[in-house]
Formats: sequence, C-alpha cells, structure tokens
Amino acid sequence: MKYRTLGRTGIEVSEVGYGAWGIGGVQWTGGDDEEAKLALNLAIDQGLNFIDTALAYGDGHSERVVGEVVRSRSERIYIATKVPPKNREWPAAKVPLQEVLPAEHIIKCTEKSLRNLGIETIDLQQFHVWRDEWTEDGEWLEAVTRLREQGKIRYVGISINDYQPWNAMKALRHGHIDAVQVIYNIFEQAPQDELYPLCRELNIGVLARVPFDEGGLTGAIKPDTVFPETDFRTWFFRGDRKRKVFERVEKLKALLGPEAETLPELALRFTLSHDAVSTVIPGMRSTRHVTSNISLSDGRRLSAELLGRLKESAWDRTEDW
Ligand SMILES: NC(=O)c1ccc[n+]([C@@H]2O[C@H](COP(=O)([O-])OP(=O)(O)OC[C@H]3O[C@@H](n4cnc5c(N)ncnc54)[C@H](OP(=O)(O)O)[C@@H]3O)[C@@H](O)[C@H]2O)c1
Repeated sequence: MKYRTLGRTGIEVSEVGYGAWGIGGVQWTGGDDEEAKLALNLAIDQGLNFIDTALAYGDGHSERVVGEVVRSRSERIYIATKVPPKNREWPAAKVPLQEVLPAEHIIKCTEKSLRNLGIETIDLQQFHVWRDEWTEDGEWLEAVTRLREQGKIRYVGISINDYQPWNAMKALRHGHIDAVQVIYNIFEQAPQDELYPLCRELNIGVLARVPFDEGGLTGAIKPDTVFPETDFRTWFFRGDRKRKVFERVEKLKALLGPEAETLPELALRFTLSHDAVSTVIPGMRSTRHVTSNISLSDGRRLSAELLGRLKESAWDRTEDW
C-alpha cells in the first residue's frame, strides 16, 4: 500500500481508503455484517488506514461496524465521518444554515457518532451537505471550534454535493476546512478544473469518492440490471440511466490494455493518477474487491496519453442524467 499526505493535517493516509456507506446496510442491499467485518479486517491487514463513514449510513450502523473493527485492531486507523443535514435533505436546498447545520445539531451528531464508533476522537468530521453561501455564518465554525477544544474532533471537512465541485471553494479560502470529499471518476472529471488546483494551492486534503460511479464503471450495470426496490441503486440508475451508463462503459473497453486490463482497474487507476487526490474511497464489501483494489496501489499512474483519451469520456451529469 502507498500512502499520501492528507493536506495540511499532515496525516499519512493509505491512498486506497475504505468507503463504508455500503456496509451500513439499508440503502445497499445484498451484504451482511460478517462479510463487512471480514472485508474491513482484510483491508487493514493489507495496509489500509483510512475509513470514511457517516452517521446517516444505516442510521449509525456503518459507524458501529467500523468502530467494532477498529477497536479490535492495534494499528492506527483514521476515521472520517459526517454530520447529516438536520432537515434530512440531500443536497441542501437554498435555505439558511440554521435549518441544516445549526451548532447544537453539529455537536449532538458528533457525540452520537463518537458513541456509535466507541472512540474518543473523530479524526475528520465532515459536513454531509454544503452550500458555499453558509461560509460566513459563524455558527458552524463556533461548533467545530468547541468540538476541537474538547478533543472530540481533530479536523474538519466538507463532503461536497454531487456534481458541484465549485460549491466549497469559498469555504476553502475561508481557511478553516482541512479536507474535501468530492465525486471523482472517469465520468466526473470536473474537480480537475478549479477545485484540485485550489486544494493544491491551499494544501487541502482530498477524498475522491464514488470511483466506480456506484458500480457503473466496473461494467456491472447492464440495461436490464435490477436491484431490490429499497436499494439506492434502483433510484440512482432510474429511467433510462442504465442504458446510458452501459453504452458509455462499452466504449471505454476500447481503452483497456497494458496500462489497465479491466474496467475496475482503469477506473481506480484513473482516480489515483491525480496528485491532488490524497485517498480514494471505494465501497468494497467483498474481500475479493478489497484485494483487487488494494493491489492497484503500486505507484504506477496512467500515462498522459491515456488520461487524455479518458478526458473524452467525461460526462456532464448536470446536463444529461
Ligand atoms: N455525499 C457523500 O458524502 C457520499 C455519497 C456517496 C458516497 N460517499 C462515500 O464514498 C464511498 C464510495 O462510494 P460508493 O460506495 O457509493 O460507490 P463506488 O465506490 O463508486 O462503487 C461501489 C461499488 O463498486 C463495487 N466494487 C468495488 N470494487 C470493485 C472491483 N474491484 N470490481 C468490481 N466491483 C467493485 C462494490 O461492490 P461490493 O460492495 O459488493 O464489494 C460496489 O457495488 C462510499 O462508501 C462513501 O464512503 C459519500
């Protein structure tokens, strides 16, 4: 496993981290806790030291599973979690900060996450939604300052709304945010334009999320793929979306070769090939996926030529999705 510095926090994180949404159950069907614990333990055995979870994942279930595994290990594992929006709306609508992230809610949720995780300090507490116009509202800063002083959190991050990489730039310039989490994959390349240069300039850590586009970039989504009704992917790949994903992924197969032999390899190597990225956090509930993803952390990056060709696969979801 290779390690990278998480921006100005100075923490050395494994460049492949663990996305723990799937192991929260509920929104991701088809897994179970025993399999999740096996996968997490195997990942840690293989050098993974960074886990991204959230209070909202299975209403604390993901945090409880993560906490149980981390507490049973002697290695230093860094945990990032998130404060959900008080009004439970993703992404946040154009409403005042007080309706979504009031100070007492930030504090209450952090304390709940600490109990779920069974630890004393959260390494990175993130806002699960954000609107940049909230930057100047002192309430969030007051809450995280208090939590830091009490030793309940170490660093603060923003998990940027889907396909809005511009919607945290003001907060980053404000100077109190240590890391951002953003969708970054072969389809969603927009963070390269402005967000990543700013993160490099300000030394902000970057968690690249959804590297497989919720499974689409692994080749698992066909026009007739069906998920259980309660599964998040039924909603995500609704309407004509499965066909759209499938057709784009079919074209990507022409780029497989010596640099990346399979679609999952191409997708993960793409995200690891950008210097601004501190860690990529795939969801991986199976031990098979853990082993194959971590094996790609070998320091080899995609060539400029292949990255140039992949640029043509960028897909503006704000226009066509
Ligand atoms: N708003 C937010 O803050 C937000 C939103 C979304 C996600 N996230 C974070 O980002 C993380 C990653 O996103 P995600 O889990 O939604 O999606 P993802 O990482 O793009 O895709 C996960 C899917 O890819 C499969 N997979 C993993 N490795 C594979 C491999 N080598 N070959 C084939 N298939 C493979 C997984 O299967 P198995 O699970 O069956 O192994 C799962 O079905 C989340 O877990 C969460 O921590 C944050």
